[in-house]
Amino acid sequence: MQGSSTLIAAQMAAELRASGVDVIDLSVGEPDFDTPQFIKQYAWEGLEKGLTKYTATAGLADFRNAIIEFYASQFGTDLKLNEVAASCGGKQALFNAACTILNPGDDVLIPKPYWVTFPEIVTFCRANSVFIETEDTEFVLNADQVAAAITPKTKLLILNSPSNPSGRVIPPDEMRRIVEACAARGVYVLTDECYLFFAYPPAKPFSLASLPPELRNFVCVAGSFSKTYAMTGWRAGYTIANPEWTAAMIKLQSHSATHPTSFVQYACAKALRNTDATLAAVTAMTAEYKRRRNWLIPALNEIDGFKCAIPEGAFYAFVDVRELLGERFASSADIADLLLKEAHIVVTDGEGFGADGFLRFSYATSMENLERAIDAMSSIFNVPA
Ligand SMILES: Cc1ncc(COP(=O)(O)O)c(C=O)c1O
Repeated sequence: MQGSSTLIAAQMAAELRASGVDVIDLSVGEPDFDTPQFIKQYAWEGLEKGLTKYTATAGLADFRNAIIEFYASQFGTDLKLNEVAASCGGKQALFNAACTILNPGDDVLIPKPYWVTFPEIVTFCRANSVFIETEDTEFVLNADQVAAAITPKTKLLILNSPSNPSGRVIPPDEMRRIVEACAARGVYVLTDECYLFFAYPPAKPFSLASLPPELRNFVCVAGSFSKTYAMTGWRAGYTIANPEWTAAMIKLQSHSATHPTSFVQYACAKALRNTDATLAAVTAMTAEYKRRRNWLIPALNEIDGFKCAIPEGAFYAFVDVRELLGERFASSADIADLLLKEAHIVVTDGEGFGADGFLRFSYATSMENLERAIDAMSSIFNVPA
């Protein structure tokens, strides 16, 4: 397995900052907001109540029921307790799901560009990543592309919408068609819904948990509190899958992390049940990301050689810099390197996402940082007329 290229970029930024350099870090995949105060308070309440011991491996029934109720209220679902399990963040949810469905030699479809961890999980399971090119459809996967890629060896498709790194959102109807194409051929779908609520209007949050049972049977939702509620460090996530898949994931987790922190589960359950306050916090954060996006994307497109489609979700701009490749730069990594050395701007190279020639800019940072970055990049790349 390879180390996470996004975490490597973040570490580079931290090291530079520690040596006294004023770094503009556009590499972080982490909200720049603090966890809402009332959620912190719930964690304290959980501690006071003595939630300092083991819980069930699947998580507190209260946590799982809160997920069930929250999804029912937001997506009209009718989930059962044996379809929901707690995990330590979205990453463990993805690992649990992949490790319990894959056998060595299985093929796993992964649309490009992908989140760095997907092919690494597949490698860990001794399965094979089979990539689907989506540049023709502007990085928005469709059911025809999936159907054309399926072979008898295909076991699983991994989806991520809104996408890290592209910020593109697959429309709900197309998501359904994709699952139909998979289910008809006995292929499972693992959907990483970590950015579920960061879909900018008119795009809307859409969960594959809301599909009818005969389709949902083939789906595992990997959910996370990290981005939606600005809770990256709390390590709270969950899976929603059929009872058999869920039972297998619980069995696996019973031999690894056991369960996420007890009082964190308590705080998450309370937060989901205080739905109005929680959704108000999410709406405020989404509106701020959207404001930054609306400023940043046109500004990036003003830089010579940069081309960026408008992201409909998440908080990343995925910039095509292939026009700049040639004599001065052999690869997008060289451009990232120059930005770091000349302007102390840290961005993530596209290669780790399967998209050499692209750079990912996170706008989970202040407007001031974004403005400084654009000023610095304009003076590097824009040739005066
Ligand atoms: C697409 C995607 N999935 C999952 C994760 C991991 O989230 P968590 O903190 O819940 O493990 C990230 C974090 O960057 C992500 O971008």
